Amino acid sequence: VLLRRLHPEPGETRTPTDAIAGLGLADLAPPDRPYVIDNMVATIDGKTTIAGRSGPIGSDVDREVFLELRTQVDAVLAGTGTLRVERYGRLLRSEERRAKREREGLAPDPLAVVVSRSLDVPFDIPLFQDPAQEIALFTASAADPPEVPATLHVSRLEEHEMVGLAAVLRRLRAEHGVRSVLCEGGPIVNGALLRDRVLDELFLTVAPILSAEIGGREIVEAAGLSGPVRGELVWLWESHGELFARYRMETSGDPDA
Ligand SMILES: NC(=O)c1ccc[n+]([C@@H]2O[C@H](COP(=O)([O-])OP(=O)(O)OC[C@H]3O[C@@H](n4cnc5c(N)ncnc54)[C@H](OP(=O)(O)O)[C@@H]3O)[C@@H](O)[C@H]2O)c1
Repeated sequence: VLLRRLHPEPGETRTPTDAIAGLGLADLAPPDRPYVIDNMVATIDGKTTIAGRSGPIGSDVDREVFLELRTQVDAVLAGTGTLRVERYGRLLRSEERRAKREREGLAPDPLAVVVSRSLDVPFDIPLFQDPAQEIALFTASAADPPEVPATLHVSRLEEHEMVGLAAVLRRLRAEHGVRSVLCEGGPIVNGALLRDRVLDELFLTVAPILSAEIGGREIVEAAGLSGPVRGELVWLWESHGELFARYRMETSGDPDA
């Protein structure tokens, strides 16, 4: 399958593997936290779920883009709601994608990042059952997580440090050396990133489909922000009517933000 570039310089075609390569995200990190990109898929009417799931929205090409983005970062963060519904497993099972990471100077497996103030975490999902997966768990709870086959590094923060996600990101950098993070939603976690204005880029797939459903979730919820956050279109690819946009977002580090 090929993606066709619409912006900038329309015309070029590339496979998702080649389009999502060499992004060099770690080099863009500010000194005290990782560079943060977010990836979401939405319908034309801006919904990220149909009947509570994101699966019915994106195509196989979107699935490839989703996995290729995991080849570009030190760590992958997904909200506990998303982990539970989508039943995450080891982040990269494909040998080829792990090799691609190594060629790009990254560890073969991305670090999984789980953030939960309450420690209400779905420890039964495959992610925690795979000894090959390393997981950084940030919580405000004093309780101990269960013993799991995956390698778990637990960091504790105060509840007030976990209103947004800036403190967690600083700890990820300081304690795990993480310089780039891919956040895979959901809407609540996206809201927590935006609350602290620590979202550097949004990769948004728009599938040519109307949800025609009341109550589907939007990309961002409950941000508690002081105003809208502007984005700048970095690229736009198309495949079979599906659009793959990449936006650079205003952050608290931007002089004009
Ligand atoms: N279309 C897409 O691209 C896409 C992507 C992802 C998910 N989804 C869909 O979105 C839904 C899940 O998203 P969701 O929004 O319900 O849940 P979510 O964002 O995945 O996770 C929410 C949880 O994160 C924890 N959390 C940790 N730090 C937080 C903070 N600073 N602020 C707020 N919450 C924090 C909270 O648990 P604690 O109270 O324990 O902290 C909260 O319940 C699913 O239906 C999934 O299919 C769609």
